[in-house]
Amino acid sequence: MTAEIISGTQVAAEIRAELKEKTAKLKADKGVVPGLVILRVGEDPASVSYVKGKEKACDEVGIYQETIVYPDDVDEKTVLDKLVELNNDPKYHGILVQLPLPKHISEDKVIDIIDPRKDVDGFHPVNVGKLLIGNPYFMPCTPAGIQQLLVRSGNDPAGKHVVICGRSNIVGKPILAIMLQKKDGANATVTMVHTGTKDTASVTRQADILIAAVGRPKVITADMVKEGVVVIDVGVNRVPDDTKKSGFRLVGDTDFEAIKEKAKAITPVPGGVGPMTITMLMWNTVNAAESASA
Ligand SMILES: NC(=O)c1ccc[n+]([C@@H]2O[C@H](COP(=O)([O-])OP(=O)(O)OC[C@H]3O[C@@H](n4cnc5c(N)ncnc54)[C@H](OP(=O)(O)O)[C@@H]3O)[C@@H](O)[C@H]2O)c1
Repeated sequence: MTAEIISGTQVAAEIRAELKEKTAKLKADKGVVPGLVILRVGEDPASVSYVKGKEKACDEVGIYQETIVYPDDVDEKTVLDKLVELNNDPKYHGILVQLPLPKHISEDKVIDIIDPRKDVDGFHPVNVGKLLIGNPYFMPCTPAGIQQLLVRSGNDPAGKHVVICGRSNIVGKPILAIMLQKKDGANATVTMVHTGTKDTASVTRQADILIAAVGRPKVITADMVKEGVVVIDVGVNRVPDDTKKSGFRLVGDTDFEAIKEKAKAITPVPGGVGPMTITMLMWNTVNAAESASA
């Protein structure tokens, strides 16, 4: 068996086209333009680049967007006060603070102060709790993107055994909460493995759908999965590669080449989960504008 490749680039383009139509309709019917404000602190090159990607995506789907940039040494109070101001600014339906923040600014305080109805990253404790209950204002972007990849590639998780590798707050735990809801696009039997799991392979071999979010290159090998598995590889790991100008290449958490000979379907790295994350941020922002204008 050679696996079907689930292209996140393709699914993301499909969703962005739908969002573009939605924003045009919101504007025509209600005079509402979805607004996203991004707050960035410092000049960390990765953060600068992520924010640029988000700005570009906003332009593409018709979201009004502004980025507020503070220097590295900005004090915590200035940032918190600004967020209170943005909570009350009707131009913005979504607020995103680019993480990580410098050590002297508490990420917890920053996340807590954002209005949960504008928390398009889905990281506010209210949204985390509501996600577990099954009625969040927003789902966090990477896990929400994984659900869309599964459903839109014809691999509905309903009734399947989904095994999640990794229990982080941004990927593992929220995708667990999403997959086990008694809802369309979910309703799976879910198991999670982590570094405390004994005999991980005996669990991963039971997976109909395996979601790898461990952040270690190729730790999920072909002998750890069964024939016909569907694999979503969230990992983004740099490994040295002399043939590249940069000196490295990106690989996932799974051994893609070997597993694709055994799997029914698999996401590539890059071009799998990655393009979905920013797209779901756009999705959340457009939905926030729709809810605010309902
Ligand atoms: N494409 C995207 O948009 C996107 C978004 C987010 C993250 N990512 C990537 O996804 C990966 C995971 O990110 P994250 O933030 O979830 O990582 P993280 O916070 O480092 O968490 C990794 C999790 O994996 C578990 N783990 C580590 N080694 C393991 C092993 N051998 N077997 C089973 N579990 C193991 C850890 O267990 P313990 O809890 O026991 O330590 C931890 O729960 C990273 O490569 C990251 O770059 C990609």
